Amino acid sequence: MIDIPSAESTADDFEDRYGRRPDGVWSAPGRVNLIGEHTDYNDGLVFPFAIERRTWAAVGHREDRLLTVHSGAMPEPAQASLDALSPDGFDGWSAYVFGVVWAMEQRGVSLEGRTGFDLMLASDVPLGAGLSSSAAIECAVAIALNDEWELGLTRRELIYICQLAENGAVGAPTGNMDQTASLMGEPGHGVLIDVRAETADPVPLHFADEELELLVIDTRVHHEHATGGYGARRKSCEDGAAAMGVDSLRDLGEADLPRALETLDDETYRRVKHVITENARVARTAEVVQQDGPRAIGDLLVQSHASMRDDFEISCPELDLAVETALTQGAVGARMTGGGFGGAAIALVDAGRAEEVGAAVEAAFAESGFTAPIVFVVNPAAGAH
Ligand code: ADP
Ligand code: GAL
Repeated sequence: MIDIPSAESTADDFEDRYGRRPDGVWSAPGRVNLIGEHTDYNDGLVFPFAIERRTWAAVGHREDRLLTVHSGAMPEPAQASLDALSPDGFDGWSAYVFGVVWAMEQRGVSLEGRTGFDLMLASDVPLGAGLSSSAAIECAVAIALNDEWELGLTRRELIYICQLAENGAVGAPTGNMDQTASLMGEPGHGVLIDVRAETADPVPLHFADEELELLVIDTRVHHEHATGGYGARRKSCEDGAAAMGVDSLRDLGEADLPRALETLDDETYRRVKHVITENARVARTAEVVQQDGPRAIGDLLVQSHASMRDDFEISCPELDLAVETALTQGAVGARMTGGGFGGAAIALVDAGRAEEVGAAVEAAFAESGFTAPIVFVVNPAAGAH
C-alpha cells in the first residue's frame, strides 16, 4: 500500500520538520501519455493527460536567503542559497527543486532582495516509472513560488521554466510534454499539445462513458533520461531533419517518406518515420476520440507501440510483454508510454476487467522471470493548483 498524501498531510509533514505551519500547499500531477512519443522535441503533436497521482509541495518563507528542501521519498534534506545558485552545485534529486529557481532567474526573474524558503515534498507518483514524477516536482515548486513570490508568471512561462530546469539543471534533454500536461491538465480531459504552435487544448476523454478503464502497467524497469538512449534518439531526429533540409521533423509529412528512404541511412530513416507517423497518429487520435469515442482509438495505440518497438527501438521485453498480454486479454488498445527503455505501458480495457488483465500481466511476467509489475487504473485529473 502506498500512502496517499494530501494538502493536510503535507502541511503536517512540513510542521513536523520545520516547527511551524507552511504559508501554503501546492500540488502538481504526474501524467500518462495517451499517444505521441518523442514528438515533443521535434516541434510535434502530443496527447497526454494529468493523472490523480500528485506531488505536493508545502512552502514557508524564511527570513534569510537559504532554500531548504525535504522529501518524504528521500532520507536526506538538501540546502542551497539564493546567493550561489548554479547547476554545478546541484546534486541528485534536489536539482529538480533548486533547478526551478535557477531557471526562473535564467528567464528573467530577479532573485535580488528575495528571501528563501523551507519546502516539504510528498508524492504518490512512482519515481522513474515514466509517469513524470520529475515534472510533478518541478511544476509543484514552480506554481508554489509563482504565488509565494507573487511573480505573476503565466502557465506557458512556467512550462518553459520547468523544461529549462530539467534540461539545464538536471541535464535531461527532454521536450516539454510532461510539464505541459502537469500544468494544463483538466479533470476528464486529455491535453492536445502542438509544441510548435505553443497550444495545449483540452479534449474530453470520457473512458467511463464507454465503459472503459485505462490501466497503467509499471514494468519497474528503470530508465534514466539524463544518460542513455533518449539523447541518442533526439540526435538521430536532429540529424534526420538536417539531412532532409528542414528545421525540424515537424516540417515533414507522410508524403516525404519516399524521399526520406532515399536520403537517409536505414536507422535514421526508421527514427524519422516513427516521428512522422506518430504525429499523424496523434492528430487522428484526437479526431477519432471526439467523433467516435475512446473505443475507436485502439488500433492507433497498437500502431504507435509497433512503431516504437520496431522503428524507434525504445521498447524493451517487459514493455512488449505487458502490451501483448493486455491485447491477448482483450484490451481495446495498448502501448508503452513515456520516454521508453523501461517505465510503464498503458492498456485500455473494458470497465471491470482491470483486475483480471492485471493478474494476467503479472502471471506472464512471473513466467518470464521478470520483476513483478505494478498495475493500477488512472483517470484524467486536474493539473497543478
Ligand atoms: P520520471 O519523471 O519518469 O518519474 P525521472 O528519472 O525523469 O523519472 O525522474 C525521477 C527522479 O525525480 C528521481 O530519481 C528523483 O531524483 C526525482 N524525484 C521524483 N519524485 C521525487 C520526490 N517525491 N522526492 C524527491 N525526488 C523525487
Ligand atoms: C519523456 C520526456 C518527454 C517526451 C517523452 C517521450 O520522458 O520527458 O519530454 O520526450 O519522454 O515522448
